[in-house]
Amino acid sequence: MEQIDKNRFHLQKMAVNYDKMCQLMVPGYDFLQNAVIDILKFENMEEIVLLDLGAGSGILIEKALKEFPDSTCYYLDSSDEFMSVAKEKLQKYADRVNYIKSDFCKNWESKITEKPTVITSMSAIHHLQTENKKKLYQKCYDVLEKGGWFFNIDEMKTITEESYLKNLYYWVHHTKEQKYIIPDDLSSSYEAWMEKFSSWKKRNLDNAHIPKQEGDDIHEPFLAQLDCLKEIGFTETDVFSKHMLWCLIGGKKSF
Ligand SMILES: C[S@@+](CC[C@H](N)C(=O)[O-])C[C@H]1O[C@@H](n2cnc3c(N)ncnc32)[C@H](O)[C@@H]1O
Repeated sequence: MEQIDKNRFHLQKMAVNYDKMCQLMVPGYDFLQNAVIDILKFENMEEIVLLDLGAGSGILIEKALKEFPDSTCYYLDSSDEFMSVAKEKLQKYADRVNYIKSDFCKNWESKITEKPTVITSMSAIHHLQTENKKKLYQKCYDVLEKGGWFFNIDEMKTITEESYLKNLYYWVHHTKEQKYIIPDDLSSSYEAWMEKFSSWKKRNLDNAHIPKQEGDDIHEPFLAQLDCLKEIGFTETDVFSKHMLWCLIGGKKSF
């Protein structure tokens, strides 16, 4: 069967609209990203070299650049369209950001010249099949500086299938409710988001029985993903935060 909305990350309109709307339409978006920033501050990390995987329009990178004035960042994404939105947003930090266009499964590590002390990702790794998630987690461990942290904020399954389903329906509910608080100047962006979101519903609710392909939303239990991080060698692994479908998991590469 033809994959539903296969090229969604390679449309300029989608990239621009995602940037405008994600903080309103993804439940807990800023809360979860800010939790990562808080942990890094608590760990007294200052001269950070951050690599953001599937960095999209650069929202998390912008926060890191602002919060840590001595930091530099690697932006990694496979979409030219998202990268162009990020380059515009991060223009004033041009000398502190390195852009890498690559698929997660390709040899992006050869383009990293300084070992990252922090690797982050949000709402991106769940597009990989299990084996490729594992390979990416291993690569992150290998690339990371000793003492560095890895964090993945992502759509994940939870303890029971029923709770997972509720989390999916919660997102549907959340997007509908947002209609009432969206400022007038964003109403056409809201409609455009809802149109794309109807494909998400088709993939994850109406056609949930169809086997997932690479690029779909391949949700996996956070416990299994934590086990995988532990097996690889990450220490201090935890679910640092959870809000509905999104979990913030991570761990440290010991000295
Ligand atoms: C839903 S957006 C999230 C963007 C950003 N992390 C955020 O939370 O705002 C997913 C991003 O991951 C990128 N992406 C998805 N699969 C990828 C892959 N296999 N390799 C590299 N980037 C990928 C997409 O191009 C897109 O920019």
